[in-house]
Amino acid sequence: NWTPAHFIETTVARIREQVGPAGHAICALSGGVDSSVAAVLVSKAIGDRLTCVFVNNGVLRKDEFEKVQRTMREDLHLNLIAVDSSERFLSKLAGVTDPEKKRKIIGNEFIAVFDDESKKIFEAEKSAGEEIAWLVQGTLYPDVIESASVHGPSHVIKSHHNVGGLPEDMKLKLIEPLRDLFKDEVRRIGRDLDMPAEILERQPFPGPGLAVRILGEVSSDRVAILQEADAICTEEIKKAGLYRQLWQSFAVLLPVKTVGVMGDQRTYAYTCAIRAVESEDGMTADWAPLPYEVLRSISSRIVSEVHGINRVVYDITSKPPGTIEWE
Ligand code: XMP
Repeated sequence: NWTPAHFIETTVARIREQVGPAGHAICALSGGVDSSVAAVLVSKAIGDRLTCVFVNNGVLRKDEFEKVQRTMREDLHLNLIAVDSSERFLSKLAGVTDPEKKRKIIGNEFIAVFDDESKKIFEAEKSAGEEIAWLVQGTLYPDVIESASVHGPSHVIKSHHNVGGLPEDMKLKLIEPLRDLFKDEVRRIGRDLDMPAEILERQPFPGPGLAVRILGEVSSDRVAILQEADAICTEEIKKAGLYRQLWQSFAVLLPVKTVGVMGDQRTYAYTCAIRAVESEDGMTADWAPLPYEVLRSISSRIVSEVHGINRVVYDITSKPPGTIEWE
């Protein structure tokens, strides 16, 4: 008879035993549900012998780097190292337009940054006579299944880097406390752990972040434009009480300029697409019939408040044949 309380109790006890009285663990936090719940479970087991690392990859949402740090430290009391590597990521992304190349670059840079930080952490531990190193990952059951799928690489539609891709030369042992669970079970565990709704109810956000929502080349200017449009989209969706029932809702920046008019001025600026979908698991999805009033306020706020966008369109494609993300 599965209950969150029982799961938490047995999992925390098992982790405590696995890691032992002197072991240390590290965890890459994304700010999302899975890595946060995994980190909280491990920190209940071994306290500050868990170090969490949160990386700004330059393609996070508006104010996300600061907000996540605050929540992780103040609400979850995690031992957190925050690394701002935006410039490093954005300079590698310069001139790249291919979606899979963007993913690869972000995945590789992330591993490099996380590797550097882990080495620093474990160097410090080693000098204290400790050599057992653990890596915490928020892998869920569907991630395990998808990665082990019988389809060959030619069937990989998008290379998600949630599973695998760990630094090769780092001899870390894995702790994956959530690998038998589905997302709704993880949320129930998070609620039992008194974690804030802001984390538990957060819509999924891809690892490569806004880079796969800026079609064509990613630049700091374009990131800033999309951050503003995306923040407005999220605000209006939340205000309308729709955030929780949508699987995902977000803005996409198209590198297509169209002619518009503002006051008596001709404008020539980017187009923004709004995407909102309903889904159970992200494998299939229906475009959401957002009320016209909500679409109206998103659109009029974006064109009047976001410098650089003068046209907003709504994506009415379901998955399949569309994917949720545009890249
Ligand atoms: P698609 O676009 O394939 O997305 O329909 C399905 C779900 O996966 C998310 N997604 C990603 N997540 N790294 C991630 O961590 C990625 O590269 C990636 N690409 C898509 C997407 O947001 C949706 O929830």
